Amino acid sequence: MGPITVDEYAERNTHLLNRHRISRRTALQAVTAGAGGLAYAQFRLAGAAFAAAGGKPGRAGVVISGRHLSFLPGGDGGLRAAMAVTAQLVSSTGALPKNLRAVVEVGRAPGEYGTRHDAEIRHLSGSDAIAGGPVCSQFYVKAVLGDLTPGAVHHYRIRLSDGTVTGDAHFTAAPAAAVAGPFTFTAFADVGTHTAPTDPKHSWHQQPAAVLRDGGKWPAGVFDNNSYLGTDPVAGATGTDPWPAVTQTGLMGTQKPVFTLLAGDICYANPSGSGLPADDTMAMSRTAPPGTSLFNPYVWDVFLNQIEPQAAYTPWMFATGNHDMEPIHGTHGYGGHVTRLDMPANGPSGCPSVYRFTYANVGFISIDANELSAELQTNTGYSRGAQVRWVESALKQWRSGTAVDFIVAFFHHCAYATSHNHASDGGVRDALDPLFSRYRVDLAVQGHNHQFERTDPIRFGKKTRSAPDGSTIRPAEDGVTYICAGSGGRPRYPFRPAPGPEAPAPHGVKPAGAQALAEGERYRGYRPKKPENTTETVANSYVWKATPAKRGKGGQLNGTRVPEAVDWSQVRYDAYAFIAVDVKPAEPGKTTTMTIRTLADALPGTGKPYTEIDRITLARTAGRGVLTDGRTACRPAHIPCT
Ligand SMILES: [Fe+2]
Ligand SMILES: [Fe+2]
Repeated sequence: MGPITVDEYAERNTHLLNRHRISRRTALQAVTAGAGGLAYAQFRLAGAAFAAAGGKPGRAGVVISGRHLSFLPGGDGGLRAAMAVTAQLVSSTGALPKNLRAVVEVGRAPGEYGTRHDAEIRHLSGSDAIAGGPVCSQFYVKAVLGDLTPGAVHHYRIRLSDGTVTGDAHFTAAPAAAVAGPFTFTAFADVGTHTAPTDPKHSWHQQPAAVLRDGGKWPAGVFDNNSYLGTDPVAGATGTDPWPAVTQTGLMGTQKPVFTLLAGDICYANPSGSGLPADDTMAMSRTAPPGTSLFNPYVWDVFLNQIEPQAAYTPWMFATGNHDMEPIHGTHGYGGHVTRLDMPANGPSGCPSVYRFTYANVGFISIDANELSAELQTNTGYSRGAQVRWVESALKQWRSGTAVDFIVAFFHHCAYATSHNHASDGGVRDALDPLFSRYRVDLAVQGHNHQFERTDPIRFGKKTRSAPDGSTIRPAEDGVTYICAGSGGRPRYPFRPAPGPEAPAPHGVKPAGAQALAEGERYRGYRPKKPENTTETVANSYVWKATPAKRGKGGQLNGTRVPEAVDWSQVRYDAYAFIAVDVKPAEPGKTTTMTIRTLADALPGTGKPYTEIDRITLARTAGRGVLTDGRTACRPAHIPCT
C-alpha cells in the first residue's frame, strides 16, 4: 500500500482535533509549551508590519497584519460591488482574548469611515499533526465590504473591540464593465518568502532544541527562498538583488495594477511540494522522511506581511500549485487557503481554487493544475472530471456573449514550457489545449518552472506562426500564447541542456555539437549567435505522461518524461521577472488590445530596477468573441462583418 493521500491524512487530523478540541486557551497552552519562542517571534514580525502600516495597539496585546483584498465575483464571474478583506491576528502568547470582536470601517476618505461591516474571527489549527513541527494555531479576521460605489476609491481600517486599529488603506472598486477604461494587471508565480519564521534575536544553532522543534530558526532555504546558487545572475554572490520575490512585489506597485494574479506555489509553507503528510523531524537536514512533506504554517505569516504593501490596496487572486497542497488541511489540502485567502467559490463544488471573474472586457479563470497533472499525481483526478466540465461551460458561456473579448486562464503546471526541471505537463496539456483552442482563449499564465518563457501562439498542439518580441498577435485566428511566469522569486531552474544521458534527444533529432548557449536563453537584447541546443530550431524538451507512473524519492506518484522536439519556445529568460498587462477595451467593432510587457528584476549590468525584456500585443475586434460552430462569428447582428 502506498502513502496515504492528502484527504486521508486531513481526515486523520480532523479526528485528532475532535478528540482534543482546540480552544483559544488550549492553543495558548500548546504554544507556550514550546518555550514561546515561535509565538513571540511571529508577534515581533507582525508587530513591526502593523506599526509600519500605521496600526495603533489596544489593550489586548494583539496586532493585525497581512491585510489582503480579493474580488467577490458572482456565479457568472461578474464582479459584485464588494471586496473581501482578510488579515491575521497575532498576539505575543499565541492566543486571543475570549470575547474579542472585529469590524471593518469603510469610507470615502481617510478618517471618514461612515460604514461598518462585522468581521468574523476564524481559528486555523492543525493540532499535533506536524510531526516534529510547530503547533499550528493562527487567527484570521475576515469581512465582506459590500455596497461599494463602482469605480470609486474606498478607504478602510480594521478595528478590534479592545481598541486595536490598523492604519488606513484604500482600494478602487471595480468599475462597471460598460464604462471601464484602460487598465493594467500584473502576474507571476512561484513567489515564496525571504524570511523564515524565526526568532530574529538568535541564529538557528543558538536556539534551544525545543524552540527549533517548534519552528524557531531553520537553516536557510528550508522554509524560505534563501538557497540561491552563488552563480545566480541576480540573487547569487555577485548578483544585484538577494531578495527577488520582495523586489518584484514592490516593482509591481510601480505599474499601478488594478489586481495581481499568482499562478500557484504561493508561499512554500510546504517546501517539499508533494502534498504528502507533514513531518518536520528531519527539517534541519532540509528533507522529510520518505512518504512525507515538510510543512510550517507560519511561513504564511511571513508571506502575508511581505505582500501586504500591495495586497492591502489591490486584490490578489491566487491559483494553487503543488506547493499549495497542504496536507494538514482538508479539501485536498486547500482547506487552509479558504481561511487565509478569499477564494471566490464560484467554481465546481469541492474545488475551492477553481473560479472565474470578469474585469471590463476580460474573463479570468483560475484552474487547479494539481487535479490535471501527469507529473505529480497526489491530487490528480480528485474532481472526477468536474473541473474540466466546469471550465468548458465557463469558456462556452463567455464565447456565447459579447461582453468578454479576451480570456485569460491562470494555472500552475505548464501545458507548454521547456524547463529542465518540469517542462510540459501532458495531463494539463491534454485537458486544456483542446478547450483553449476551441474557445479561443487568448493568454495562459503558468508557473511551476522557475524561469520565464513565452511561446509562439499555439492551436490544437501546433505553433501557428512565429511571434518575436514586438509582435501583434490575433488570438482569434492565431491561437493561445502560453507564458510561464514561474520567475517570481524562488531559486531558478535551468532550461533543458543539450541532448545527453541526462536529457535524451527527442525522436528523430540527431545531436550535432555542443550547445552554444549555456542555458538556451533568448530575450530582447540577448540572442544566441549560434543555434542553441543542437539544431537551428529545435529546443530539446520533454512532456510528462501519466503512465507508466512510479513512486518518486519522497514517495509521491510521478508520471514519465517523454522527450519532445519543440519549435514554439519564443522567449526564454532564466532569472526573475513578472508580467504587466495593459488592456484597452474598445467600442464594439473597434480594435481592443492587451499588451503584455515582461519586466525583469534587476537584469545584471543595467543599473535599473527593472528592464523590459519582451513585449507583445494581443488584438481582437471588440464585441465579436461569439463562436458559432467553432468559428468566430459577427455578433451582435448590428455590427457589420469585415
Ligand atoms: Fe515552484
Ligand atoms: Fe510548482
